[in-house]
Amino acid sequence: MPVRRFPPVRLSIDDIAFGGRGVGRLPDDGRAVFVPFVLPGEEVEAEVVAEHRRHVEARLVAVTQPASARTEPRCPYFGRCGGCSYQHADYATQLSIKRKQVADLLRRVGRLTFADATVRATVPSPEIYGYRNRITVHARDGALGFFTHGPGERALLDIEECPLAAPAVNTALHALRARYQRGVLPDGRNYTVSDDDPSSADTPRFFRQTNDGAASRLRELVRALALEAVPTAAARGHLIDAYCGDGFFARSLTADFQRITGIEMDRRAVRAAQAAALAAPHEKYLAGDVAAHLPAALTLAAAAETVLLVDPPAEGLHETVIAAIAARPPATLIYISCQPPTLARDLARLKVGHAADSLYELLSVTPLDMFPQTAEIEAVVHLRARSGDAAGF
Ligand SMILES: C[S@@+](CC[C@H](N)C(=O)[O-])C[C@H]1O[C@@H](n2cnc3c(N)ncnc32)[C@H](O)[C@@H]1O
Repeated sequence: MPVRRFPPVRLSIDDIAFGGRGVGRLPDDGRAVFVPFVLPGEEVEAEVVAEHRRHVEARLVAVTQPASARTEPRCPYFGRCGGCSYQHADYATQLSIKRKQVADLLRRVGRLTFADATVRATVPSPEIYGYRNRITVHARDGALGFFTHGPGERALLDIEECPLAAPAVNTALHALRARYQRGVLPDGRNYTVSDDDPSSADTPRFFRQTNDGAASRLRELVRALALEAVPTAAARGHLIDAYCGDGFFARSLTADFQRITGIEMDRRAVRAAQAAALAAPHEKYLAGDVAAHLPAALTLAAAAETVLLVDPPAEGLHETVIAAIAARPPATLIYISCQPPTLARDLARLKVGHAADSLYELLSVTPLDMFPQTAEIEAVVHLRARSGDAAGF
């Protein structure tokens, strides 16, 4: 749709949608306006940059009445760089925005009705800057950095340092820049610099969590939920860690379950998991698709003694995986998600709720802030098979 020229509009910001943009209403026709870098309760002036039938997108021109939660961004690129959405918000506000977004998505997309208390407070990251153990930058036409904020075509923004990256990562970025400027590295490529091997500029070997402090909190949380789910040690028959990577979660539960099965597509990650598990014969890692291995894994112990962890990529669970779970629902299902909209979709497909045909009941939802200052949200959902079902399969 062609963009009509609007005069700047005055907006009251009611909410912050998943993805980080504030929501206001156009004064003339009431359509939703999405505008970045604002906060709930603020009065702002914005300019419409793209018009759609039911909503418009706008650029922030001025904040006429700032919220008390507004803070000074730490990064000189904030507002242009596409990486961060919330450096203008104090940390407590970032956490509460993320909690509300998860609850709203579960209600709207997951069609879940639940007590608000089911969604716990967002677990904070121990570090809110300098936490990334690696970053990936793009190189093009002499610029080395990140792409700019949308909408529209994104330009490449040259970045000297990223304040979200750990100091060692920024040191590695300086070294990468020197090599790029000497013409040693080809143009038009992505380069990853990390704190474990600052001299390399390659893509990581396999999936690794990006924020070590927050990842430890995530692992502690998942461990606590898995143990709470089956309180008696004798009944901890089988832990299945699906999408296990190098066994990040399973390793912390090795001593607690009689049998552990990890399933992972990436063979290098599986080799690393197996190497770490050498002395533990009850721990097995299978290379391949979760959809292929899960049905058999679910038969290895009674459903009542089985805890299934799923930590899929952003696309969520394939329908064949949902079908495998529905065919033999383990008593406990812990879903770790990096993409709340697909999580909400999958909970609807898994028939979570209180209806007569519900497969699972929702015990808790815990958002976790793996990426402070950005719009990303991690969430852990604890589900229990509806009574009687698990033992009956
Ligand atoms: C979000 S990562 C989680 C890794 C691990 N749980 C961790 O915390 O380190 C998702 C993992 O799923 C793997 N994966 C993606 N699709 C898969 C599939 N269909 N079957 C098995 N593994 C898959 C990826 O290789 C990646 O290691």
